[in-house]
Amino acid sequence: MLVCRTISEIRGFVRQARARSQTIGFVPTMGYFHEGHLTLMREAKKACDVVVVSIFVNPLQFGPQEDFNEYPRDFERDKRLAAEVGVDALFTPPVEEMYPAGFSTHVEVAGLTQCLCGLSRPGHFRGVTTVVAKLFNIVLPDRAYFGQKDAQQALVIKRMVRDLNMPLEIVTVPTVREPDGLAMSSRNVYLGPREREAARVLYRSLKLAERAVAGGEMDVARLLEIVRQEIASEPLAQIDYAEIRSLPDLEPLARLQGPGLLALAVRIGKTRLIDNTILNPGNSGGAGDAFNYV
Ligand code: PAJ
Repeated sequence: MLVCRTISEIRGFVRQARARSQTIGFVPTMGYFHEGHLTLMREAKKACDVVVVSIFVNPLQFGPQEDFNEYPRDFERDKRLAAEVGVDALFTPPVEEMYPAGFSTHVEVAGLTQCLCGLSRPGHFRGVTTVVAKLFNIVLPDRAYFGQKDAQQALVIKRMVRDLNMPLEIVTVPTVREPDGLAMSSRNVYLGPREREAARVLYRSLKLAERAVAGGEMDVARLLEIVRQEIASEPLAQIDYAEIRSLPDLEPLARLQGPGLLALAVRIGKTRLIDNTILNPGNSGGAGDAFNYV
């Protein structure tokens, strides 16, 4: 597995692959790999001749009070795991390589980014779309892989690709979970033992909502009441947002008519966790994962 720290090195690798008419799959990440990241890499490996993974903790998408400096990093472990999955090249640029002095261009998707995490984290999606647009221009992939765990991010990236005519396909992959349902996340390492236990409330509340939809409940306010009550039963949990919105435009909904995204951001102690499910009235309440709505 090749490890590149500069844009010119990874471009050289990609140029050679293209010269051999190989298709390129790309998985952008911030590292500290878990099974969610590795699943994206395996999916890329199945569908593409060559797989490139980037590890870049992108300062542009962190707010001034957020965890950029504390964000967990373990390059040696990541390198070993990526090699085991069969990744062909890792791109791990230093910050100055991506944002040299004088950097002043940003990519911003309007509308979709003005709700959910876009409200709680101002500037976050502008940082994400800017770095992902740069990475796409550097790696020139045929397909890029994103997790449904970050459903709003996947929708925003798809919109950017469509609006700017970027010549690649975005593939979304269902959320990978711990055995007790907690969505895998690099940030789960912040949780102490009691907090880790409390964090199960996110999945539990998603499942309660799915069950209510399966039982015929289509009223969004009542569904959210079920979710909020469940989360309120956990003293360490504090809701940042709990909303049900339309797909793929993330408009507010009063009633579920087709599939809707139930999205949660919940603080467990100091750690902010997100999770979501697709509520699908036509599909026994939940299990929207099987459909590529996001
Ligand atoms: P990061 O949080 O490292 O996530 C990288 C990719 O892994 C994202 O597409 C994310 O949705 C996916 N992922 C994370 N947890 C997952 C899980 N439990 N199941 C399935 N997929 C999961 O998301 C980012 O980095 C950054 O914003 C990035 C896109 C790299 C831009 O900086």
